[in-house]
Amino acid sequence: MNAPIDVKNLLPTSGLQQGAHIVHESAHLHVTGEAAYTDDIPELAGTLYAAIIKSPVAHGELIGEGIDRAAILAMHGVVAVYTARDIPGENNCGPILHDDPFLADGKVEFVGQAVAVVVAREMLYAREAAARAVVQVKALPAILTIEEAMAANSFIMPPKGIHRGDATAAIAAAPHRVKGSVRTGQQEQFYLEGQITYAVPREDGQLTLYCSTQHPDGNQREAAAALNLTTNDVEVICRRMGGGFGGKEGNASIFSQSAALAAHKLRRPVKLRINRDDDMTITGKRHDFRIDYEVGFDDSGRILGADITLMSRCGYSTDYSGPVNDRACLHIDNCYHIPALKLISHRCKTHTQSATAFRGFGGPQGMFGIESVIEDIADTLGKDPLEVRKLNLYKDPAVSGNPDTMTTQYNQLIEDWVGDKVMAQVEAESRYGERRAQVNAYNASQSRRKRGLALVPLKFGISFTATHLNQGGALLVIYMDGSVSVNHGGTEMGQGLNTKMAQVCADGLGISVDKVRVTATDSQKVPNASATSASSGADINGAAIMNATAQMRDRLRPVAARMLGCDADKVTFADNAAHGGGKSVGWSDLTKQAWLDRVGLSVTGFYMTPEIKYDFTTLNGRAFYYYCYGAAVTEVEIDTLTGEWWLRGVDIVHDVGQSINPAIDRGQIEGAYVQGMGWLTMEECIWDKKGKLLTHGPSTYKIPVAGDVPEHFNVSLFDNQNLKPTPFRSKATGEPPLMLALSSFFALRDAVGAAGGHRGVVSLDAPATPERILMACERAKALRAN
Ligand code: MTE
Ligand code: MOS
Repeated sequence: MNAPIDVKNLLPTSGLQQGAHIVHESAHLHVTGEAAYTDDIPELAGTLYAAIIKSPVAHGELIGEGIDRAAILAMHGVVAVYTARDIPGENNCGPILHDDPFLADGKVEFVGQAVAVVVAREMLYAREAAARAVVQVKALPAILTIEEAMAANSFIMPPKGIHRGDATAAIAAAPHRVKGSVRTGQQEQFYLEGQITYAVPREDGQLTLYCSTQHPDGNQREAAAALNLTTNDVEVICRRMGGGFGGKEGNASIFSQSAALAAHKLRRPVKLRINRDDDMTITGKRHDFRIDYEVGFDDSGRILGADITLMSRCGYSTDYSGPVNDRACLHIDNCYHIPALKLISHRCKTHTQSATAFRGFGGPQGMFGIESVIEDIADTLGKDPLEVRKLNLYKDPAVSGNPDTMTTQYNQLIEDWVGDKVMAQVEAESRYGERRAQVNAYNASQSRRKRGLALVPLKFGISFTATHLNQGGALLVIYMDGSVSVNHGGTEMGQGLNTKMAQVCADGLGISVDKVRVTATDSQKVPNASATSASSGADINGAAIMNATAQMRDRLRPVAARMLGCDADKVTFADNAAHGGGKSVGWSDLTKQAWLDRVGLSVTGFYMTPEIKYDFTTLNGRAFYYYCYGAAVTEVEIDTLTGEWWLRGVDIVHDVGQSINPAIDRGQIEGAYVQGMGWLTMEECIWDKKGKLLTHGPSTYKIPVAGDVPEHFNVSLFDNQNLKPTPFRSKATGEPPLMLALSSFFALRDAVGAAGGHRGVVSLDAPATPERILMACERAKALRAN
C-alpha cells in the first residue's frame, strides 16, 4: 500500500507561492517564437516524412489491402508504404476498448480513415503521393446521423440510464408539462499546432517518439503493442503542445503509431506532421447531441419530474464515448435538484470520425439540456429564467426540509455547495436587475434590433470517472549547485500546468521559482501516467510533487541541523534558505553540503485521489472528489432581420478554490468562455450526404478570434477554498469555465424571445449561427401572431 496522504503536505510550506501572479513559464518563448514544439526539434540526418492515405468513402470493404503498392512506390520520392498487413503486433489506437485500428483492416468506416501510411524523401512528396493514391474500396451504405443510427439500432455500446423516483408519475401529476427536443453541434478542437510525431529509432530495436500528446503513456503502450515491443523499449517525450483541448488525448495515437511503424520498419527517423485539412478530416471532435425531454413542473416553475433522452453521435469506434456520455448523464442536473428523473443515454454508432474528448467531456452537452428545460419552463410561465433557476437550485436539507435536496441523481451528497452564493455575487456585480430593466426598455423601443440577457450557473465534477486514473507521479532532482529539476506525469498544452507545478515545487522547498525547471514530459521519467485531462493536471501531479518535496525536506533537515547547530525538527525552509536556532543557511550551501554528506538528491513522489468510489455500470456513487462552481451573465444584441449578433458584455464569477496562480486561472477562464461561445454560437461541422466533412479548414469552419472577445469582460475569482486537501486548496480550472458560455447562448435565446414579444416557448438549437437565429426569430414572431 502507498503511504497515507499527509494532508499537511498539501498545504503551502512557505506561503510565498500561494496566489502568486507568476507569468507562464514559456510566455517569453511563446511571444518571441522560440518555444520549441515537436516540429522545431532539429531533424537528424536521414529523416524521412510520412503522410496518410485516407478512405474516400464513409463505409466500405477494402479490395485486398485497399491500395496498389507498386503504383504508390513508383511515385516520385516515395520510399515505402505500409498498411494494416505490415503491423507486426496489435493494430489498435482505441484508448479504452481495443476496437479502433490505426490503419484500416478489411473495411473503412468514415471518410478520412487512415488506410495506409506512405513514406517519402520529402514531406511534400509524401503528401503528394497520399493525395494521388487510389484507395480500392467497394462502397457500402453508411449511417451518418443520430436519427439514422437510432432507426437502425446502431450503437457503439448499450444504453445507460439513471432512475430517481417515479418520473413518469410525477410528470403526469404535475400542473404543467413541457416537451421538447434540442441539439448541440460537434466542435473541432482546433489546437493551433496540428497533430505531429517525430519517431526516432534507437539501438537494439528501441524507439523514441517526440509527440504532441496529452497522453504520452498511452502512445508509449500502444506503439509498443503494435510493434511487439515491451513498454520499456519505447520512450515518449512531449515538451509542450500548441493546444490539445482533448483532441490529443486519444487521437494523437493514430499518428504516433503510424510514424512509429514506419521508423521501426525502415530504421530511419520518420516525421509525420499532417496539414489542417487532414487533421480535421481524420480526427474526432466533440460529440453532437440530440436531447429529447418531457418535464413536469408546478405553478412557480419548480421541476417535479423529468424524462430525458440523450442521443449522441459517437462515430465509428468507442474511443472515449463511454465516459463522455457518462459525464453528460452526471451533469444533466447542472446546479438543480431534479426530484424525479428518468434519464437514458444512447451512444450512436455512425460512419463518421470517432467523436472524442473535448474540454468538458460531455458535461457541457448535459448541462445544455437542463438549461434548455429551465428556459422552456420560464417561457411557459412568462417568468425571467433567473427566477426559475433560483427556485430549482440544490438546497441545504435543513432549509428545504427535504433530506434529498443536496443529493445528485447519482447519489452523491454535495458537500461543497456554493452555487447560490456564486450566482448572487455575479447578479450583484453585473447589476443584473438594472440591466434587465434596460434590456426590456430597449426592446420595447426597437422593432428590428433586440437585446437579450442571461445568468447561467455551473457546477462541474472533478475526478476521472474511471477511478484508477486518479493518480499522479513526480520525479524531483536537486543538483549540487541548488538548481532543481522537476518532472511530473502531466503535459503542458498552454494551460499553465508547468508554471503551477514549478510554484508548488518551489514552495515545498522554500525556494524561488527561478531555481526550478519543469522538464519535458517523458514516459521514462514518470511511468504509467494518466492523460492530462479531466482538468486533473494540477491536482494529481501537484500533490505528487508535494509528496516529493516533503520527502526531500526530510532528507535535508538533518544536514541543515548540523550546519545550523539546532535540532532537525526545528528546521524550516523559506526564502532560499534553511532556518533554525536563530540562524540561516543559504539553499545552495545546503545542497552542496548534502551532496558532500552523500544524501540522495533525487526522489519520486506519488499521489492517489482518496474517497472516490463509483460504479460506472450503474452511474451511481461518489463519482467526484469535489465540484467547481461558476456563473456568468452575458448580454447580446441581435438583428432580427439578418440574424447577426453582437456580444455586449460578459460578467463572470468563478470558483477556483484558493488559486495557485490567479493570472493563469483568469487566462483559463477567459479562454474557456470564448471557446465555449464558439461551440454554442459559431462553430459548425457540416457533412455532405455521403459523409464527407465539408468544413475542414479555417475558411469554412469559423472559430472565435481576438475580435470576438467582448470589451466588457469582467472576471472575478470567487473567494473560496477547496474543502478537500488539494495543492494549496486550489480547484481545477481547465474545463469548468467553458460552461460559463452557456450564458452567451441563452442570452441569444432571450433576444430571440423578445423578437416574439416573449410569447410562448422559443426553440433554438446550438450552434446559434446567424441562420438559426434568423429562423428562430421567424418562429418567435409567428408565435406572437397566433
Ligand atoms: N488551455 C490551453 N491553453 N490549451 C489547452 O489545450 N486544454 C483544456 C484545459 N485548458 C487546454 C487548456 C482541457 S480539455 C483540459 S482537460 C485541461 O486544460 C487540462 O489541463 P489541466 O488538467 O492542467 O487543467
Ligand atoms: Mo480535457 S477534454 O479532459 O482533455
